[in-house]
Amino acid sequence: MNTLDAIKTRRSTRKFKAQPVEFEKLQTVVEAGRFGPTGGNAQTNHFFVISDAAVIAKLKELVQSAFARMELRDDLYKSLQNSIRLSQKGNYSFCYTAPVLIVVANKKDYGNNMADVACAVENMMLAANELDLGSCYINQLKWLNEDPALFDYLRGLGLREDERVYASVAVGYADTESGLPNRSESPRTGNEVVFV
Ligand SMILES: Cc1cc2nc3c(=O)[nH]c(=O)nc-3n(C[C@H](O)[C@H](O)[C@H](O)COP(=O)(O)O)c2cc1C
Repeated sequence: MNTLDAIKTRRSTRKFKAQPVEFEKLQTVVEAGRFGPTGGNAQTNHFFVISDAAVIAKLKELVQSAFARMELRDDLYKSLQNSIRLSQKGNYSFCYTAPVLIVVANKKDYGNNMADVACAVENMMLAANELDLGSCYINQLKWLNEDPALFDYLRGLGLREDERVYASVAVGYADTESGLPNRSESPRTGNEVVFV
């Protein structure tokens, strides 16, 4: 697959098979993330490649309980309202059924923290596509990156005191008949361009 094909056929996967992802593939995906550009070549992204089901389950539990405590208000971002609503019903799985979650943190006082992490995440999603893996950008750990219980738990996994999570990405084999991710090109309805 060439780069442009990988870009245009990358789609979000939100239903995954339980099938584990080969370690070599995970290494390739995270290496693609590590090779993303960083502001001033800072290279301060910190990657946590989580394939331990018990750890993913604990993160789901902590995310659900954090959202369940929030007040559901009409002025909130729609997706956040949805997370709160489902969590209050005890029915929320922020990273779906993905067997792997790659969490990316960066220094909290660094101006390009989220930009550097987002570049890494896009690289990882493109690499996943190339390797016939599905992926999805997951934002909930960023929204909750000051939640004390989540922060403590992530500290136990190696997150440093001066770091926060800015994105994560769900990775795994898509739960489709072929096992391949949906690669149908989605039409562009926005993202205006001006050539000058
Ligand atoms: C910054 C950002 C945050 C996102 N957060 C989530 C998320 O938390 N959960 C989710 O299911 N998808 C998330 N997405 C995926 C978008 O919903 C998806 O990329 C968009 O709907 C376009 O669909 P496509 O990826 O199939 O082209 C996020 C994407 C971006 C770029």
